Amino acid sequence: MQDKVVVITGGTSGIGKALAIASLHAGAKVAVCGRKSETLQALEKEVASDNLYTYTADVSKEDDCKYFIEQVISRLGKIDILINNAGISMRALFRDVDLSVLRQLMDINFWGTVYCTKYALPSILANKGTVVGVSSIAGYRGLPARTGYSSSKFAMQGFLESLRTENLHTGINVMWVCPGFTSSNIRNTALNEEGRSQSETPLDEGKLMSAEAVADAVLKAINKRKRTLVLTGQGKLTVLLSKLFPGLLDGIVYNHFKKEPGSPLK
Ligand SMILES: NC(=O)c1ccc[n+]([C@@H]2O[C@H](COP(=O)([O-])OP(=O)(O)OC[C@H]3O[C@@H](n4cnc5c(N)ncnc54)[C@H](OP(=O)(O)O)[C@@H]3O)[C@@H](O)[C@H]2O)c1
Repeated sequence: MQDKVVVITGGTSGIGKALAIASLHAGAKVAVCGRKSETLQALEKEVASDNLYTYTADVSKEDDCKYFIEQVISRLGKIDILINNAGISMRALFRDVDLSVLRQLMDINFWGTVYCTKYALPSILANKGTVVGVSSIAGYRGLPARTGYSSSKFAMQGFLESLRTENLHTGINVMWVCPGFTSSNIRNTALNEEGRSQSETPLDEGKLMSAEAVADAVLKAINKRKRTLVLTGQGKLTVLLSKLFPGLLDGIVYNHFKKEPGSPLK
């Protein structure tokens, strides 16, 4: 990581923030983006590092992504590692949800990854660097009341697997990371059926894996140039069972999510 340039989308909260801090501690120059200048300023204040560079950018907008990546390259000279982390979630049954919710999920989680990767790739190729996508267990297994979230993460993984394979002999590494439930702000900002933030989490966030532990595992996986990283025992078991016994898992997953406080599953 020493003197590498690491770009992280959505670096102001949760996993992205933990990745930014861990990368700085490992000696990297770190550029992060987010949609709100106040939270970017708060991060600058908290971290107080000359090696942190912040940019306002909404990854669902191609022009923002192009400008963000161009600014990083012009200021820092290169990109070694791009971590496509910015993401949002949802909770609503498909029969109730406004389709604009699914579009937003695809625009941020999938298209945000595509745009940033497109503009960063020439520099990453020149530096034989790494492209990372922060996906989810929901990218291996469709989850009820998360049609837009699962779709966006399946799409992200398909994109990254194709990109990985076509670059097999170019010297870059492409990896996707699937955290299990991780303590963060994502369930507070998750969209309901009308596209409004649900504003509360149905889980006890304190009992979940910490964003710092996820960041630590991701940086180790980047250094080892791994193909994929699946986190938490529950996450690993879900991915395994979805390959071996997909029908059995339908019932297990349904029952699990039905028990969540406020679940729309009846
Ligand atoms: N937490 C989990 O349980 C979990 C599990 C599996 C996978 N993940 C994945 O991990 C990633 C990070 O999520 P998190 O849990 O750390 O959530 P989080 O605490 O809500 O952080 C999300 C970050 O993304 C940024 N962001 C959201 N929309 C954006 C946009 N359009 N453009 C730019 N930045 C945007 C947010 O900043 P602004 O709102 O200021 O823009 C924030 O910095 C996501 O891709 C998520 O799907 C999370």
